[in-house]
Amino acid sequence: MQRFGLLLVCLLSVAFFARPALTQRPVTLSFLIQAQEASKWPAIIQQFEAENPGIRLNLVEGPNPTNQVEDLYTAAFLLGKAPYDLVYMDITWVPKFAAAGWLLDLSDRIAREELAQFLAADVEGGRYEGGLYRLPFRTDFALLYYRKDLLEEAGLKPPKTFDELMQISQNLKAQAKAEWGFVWPGRQYEGAAAMFVEILKGHGGFWIDPGTGEVGLDQPPAIDAVRFLRSTIEQGVSPPGVTNYAEDQVRFLFQSGGAVFMRNWPYAFPLANAPDSPVRGKVAIQPMVSAPGGESGACKGGWGLGIAKTTRHPQEALRAIQFISSLNTQRDFMLETGYVPSRPTLYADSQIVAKYDYYPQLLAVAEQAVLRPPIPQYAQASDILQRYLSAAFSGQLSPEQAMQRAARETRALLGRYQGGAG
Ligand code: GLC
Repeated sequence: MQRFGLLLVCLLSVAFFARPALTQRPVTLSFLIQAQEASKWPAIIQQFEAENPGIRLNLVEGPNPTNQVEDLYTAAFLLGKAPYDLVYMDITWVPKFAAAGWLLDLSDRIAREELAQFLAADVEGGRYEGGLYRLPFRTDFALLYYRKDLLEEAGLKPPKTFDELMQISQNLKAQAKAEWGFVWPGRQYEGAAAMFVEILKGHGGFWIDPGTGEVGLDQPPAIDAVRFLRSTIEQGVSPPGVTNYAEDQVRFLFQSGGAVFMRNWPYAFPLANAPDSPVRGKVAIQPMVSAPGGESGACKGGWGLGIAKTTRHPQEALRAIQFISSLNTQRDFMLETGYVPSRPTLYADSQIVAKYDYYPQLLAVAEQAVLRPPIPQYAQASDILQRYLSAAFSGQLSPEQAMQRAARETRALLGRYQGGAG
């Protein structure tokens, strides 16, 4: 009897003490992120977990190319039971993920006043058919980098047009000031499609009109845009290797002093000016050039967070995405990494400007950047474009042939979906 009593006491005390322990087990929120960026996240995670003891963030490292990360999320959601609670999304994925029903609509969860604190186009990029599916974190827009030391020594002004960019490149190459003129990402992947958007815009063309589903790839401005890129290789201004370069290969070449001009995202600026960089202090940035009278158009990129519809922890997930996109987290992250914020006030923030004095000048580019077509079939449309751009860059097809085929396939793709591109 005594033994029984003791057992009962033991059991009761286990039940009593174990219960709170069980209910207090932290909730874990998982999400996938590009490896290159994942290494920059530990500080955010630490801070968030310190402020939210009941929530853990589990960051899963994915490959670097954005389309490969997209494929991994897509496969996980298609298979059902996706292991992700948060979805760290490139701006181009939103319509597809939202249309597929993989994301929670955040419209009622985020106050209008809070949304007004972000760059308008970044918020717009998170919307689909009236819903809101992504809170912006870091934005992105491409820039033209140039060697201000070389231009100044030669008494040349920075270029405004594609022709001027070619002339300056050839001039400085002829004087053996640099091995190459212009380096750009021509590899068959999303980076090339993003870059093409701005060369296209600079020539006055368009890719897909999201309202009407009209395709502009076989129109003269689009063919001229491809011709221009191809001519940089044919005329020896760009190395033939650009057809296989992603952003980081482009950056390596420019940063080692091998080129006068580079097209890249803002992340490259602090790296080009790092203490061990051969071009430290010799680099300037400006918006991408355009055809005479044309408009310069930086491609709008950028990353933000959504919540997977299948998560069992929507409250905690909301808390996490609000923390991550907050002013303070963005400030800390941008100070550490040199990425660019999605909150306009940070471009004039005293701490940011003390570290990056060029940020105020970036805001105008951020506000004018051009979205890639915001349509659910974006991934397939981009895939078509990438294939034909690659064929034209490497000389397998002429710019006309390549763009005619790209336009035909894109029209077939959009026609397959009811209601055109919508
Ligand atoms: C950057 C941009 C993203 C774009 C990608 C292409 O990560 O932020 O929007 O799709 O580059 O490589």
